[in-house]
Amino acid sequence: MTRHEDFVLPVGTALDRFISRHQEQFPYATGELSQLLRDIALAGKIVNREINRAGLLNITGNFGNQNIQGEEQQKLDVIANVRFIRALRNGGEVCGIISEEEDELIDTGNMEGKYVVAIDPLDGSSNIDVNVSIGTIFSIYRRTSPVGTPVTWQDFQQYGTKQVASGYLLYGSSTMLVYTTGHGVNGFTYEPSLGEFILSHADMKMPKDAKSYSVNEGNYYDFPEEVREYLDNCKKNRFSARYIGSLVADFHRNLLKGGIYLYPPTQKAPEGKLRLMYEAHALAFIAEQAGGKATDGKRRILDILPSSLHQRVPLYIGSENMVIEIMELLKEKVLV
Ligand code: AHG
Ligand code: MN
Ligand code: MN
Repeated sequence: MTRHEDFVLPVGTALDRFISRHQEQFPYATGELSQLLRDIALAGKIVNREINRAGLLNITGNFGNQNIQGEEQQKLDVIANVRFIRALRNGGEVCGIISEEEDELIDTGNMEGKYVVAIDPLDGSSNIDVNVSIGTIFSIYRRTSPVGTPVTWQDFQQYGTKQVASGYLLYGSSTMLVYTTGHGVNGFTYEPSLGEFILSHADMKMPKDAKSYSVNEGNYYDFPEEVREYLDNCKKNRFSARYIGSLVADFHRNLLKGGIYLYPPTQKAPEGKLRLMYEAHALAFIAEQAGGKATDGKRRILDILPSSLHQRVPLYIGSENMVIEIMELLKEKVLV
């Protein structure tokens, strides 16, 4: 039995060493998940390089076509998508991938791969052209079909509680990789001169309470009454509003400082805007591992079984007591 304390390594440890040390602590681990995390980190470094050059190279702006959800793809969306898929396919541990930028699931051809990955290759794409933080979000499951057979949709159709790992890359004032394998959350900062991610935020814990909220308040009049009431209370209590418009960046700030992120249903998006499989599940796993909470207003996010690839879900995520408060308000509505 591995104790949680066994997973705490000193700040300054390089990601590779951190991953190897943790693998040794799983008695039957064969190293595939470790390698998969390394593949993601490598693709993250490449995407980071492209993002840093975005202002110089002619790679920003619209790519001229739309993804399945009718949103305009940015060139960097496409680049990030290609890079991550290539890294995961070449790594060999993954038999299937679903991506925000792909209409259907991708069979990598690696039938021996034990894992499937759901990914938002570039989150916050409206911020690319304006030099504001963006990210990548990923979620990893063990396949449910036998190894050696082609990947199926059922391999992906799993409760969020079944994730073996999830995480994100944040391309911000510095680049970070934050992930969990279900034994707490650790954050690594990229050191470009070494080309290494270094453990900078060990065993991250989200403050239980805070005075900061993140929501696109331009949609206020479209929000359910209970959400408006919650936001009114935030203002009466003089909370700070902090909204970047990149989920990863907003979530990361709340993870460090405390706060709540809300993307409620609106008239335009009655199911919410964010995607269950490669946004909400991944971040909900991290939030819970850091002592926070995530709900769609009725259910714990991790207890939702996806019914389709690009399913959307309302999302209230962040500091435990703040999420509980909005859940209580929304629950009252159900009872009336
Ligand atoms: P993506 O760029 O992957 O499509 O995700 C955008 C999401 C999320 O990052 C962000 O929090 C939200 O959209 C912002 O939506 P609004 O512009 O409606 O506020
Ligand atoms: Mn996104
Ligand atoms: Mn995206």
